[in-house]
Amino acid sequence: MTVWTREDERNKNKMMNIMDGETMEWAQKKSRELSRLMSYYRCAMMEIETKLNVLNEEFSWEKDHNPISSIRKRLKSLTSIREKLDRREFPVSISSIEENLNDVAGVRVICSFPEDVYAIRDALLTQDDLTLLEEKDYVKNPKQNGYRSLHLIMSIPIYLAHEKKIMKVEIQLRTIAMDFWASLEHQLRYKKEVLFTEEMAHELSECARISADLDLRMDNLRKGVEKQHSARHFNAVGRDNMFLLEKHLEHK
Ligand code: GTP
Ligand code: MG
Repeated sequence: MTVWTREDERNKNKMMNIMDGETMEWAQKKSRELSRLMSYYRCAMMEIETKLNVLNEEFSWEKDHNPISSIRKRLKSLTSIREKLDRREFPVSISSIEENLNDVAGVRVICSFPEDVYAIRDALLTQDDLTLLEEKDYVKNPKQNGYRSLHLIMSIPIYLAHEKKIMKVEIQLRTIAMDFWASLEHQLRYKKEVLFTEEMAHELSECARISADLDLRMDNLRKGVEKQHSARHFNAVGRDNMFLLEKHLEHK
């Protein structure tokens, strides 16, 4: 039984209000197939999230800190799906969505340090049920405006009652500093009525440079702390071993 809450009602109204007539007609006609496809994408995001949580748990032992600070998921709205298919001149159909769009399911992983971004990436790439379809490294090669993040398009199987389906998910990995910049830049860029001057663009790229510098300095701090920590740990283990050895010899 579906429990229809006040929140669902509000979301439905919101969705209907922002959908244009043509998209609404298409969505109504294909409603069951679209709902099912969207639910497959949600399942794929759940699978990816579980993998990330497992890695976070394991790395927290190995690295002595949690590499993942937070995970956000989003499903592309039907209006944006429709708009992107039209803009790129792809057919408007269920199979065309699956074939041509890589970012219907999006998972954003906010990491503590730049090194964590690559540790998570490398670990995902070794998992044999995941396939890397595309990679864009805007951390090593930032975009002209200063945007930094590592984008992976991966395919992942989901196991349904009677079949296995391969779904695509866009995974964006970035640090807290990269996310801070990208979130504010997104807010500024979407104020469409405002003319974005060259000076503003320059200021924004300067902020990106400062945020990259911040990442670098925090990473150096982390390295210093980790070095001290492992030296202490080594000494402590050394002391414990000596103690055990002496105890052992005492009994001889
Ligand atoms: P689109 O998905 O249509 O944007 O094209 P694409 O797949 O060629 O883009 P790309 O992989 O470069 O970027 C995909 C996503 O990354 C976007 O949808 C945004 O979420 C994010 N992104 C890319 N560039 C920027 C940027 O300059 N600023 C911000 N805030 N986000 C960006
Ligand atoms: Mg996109």
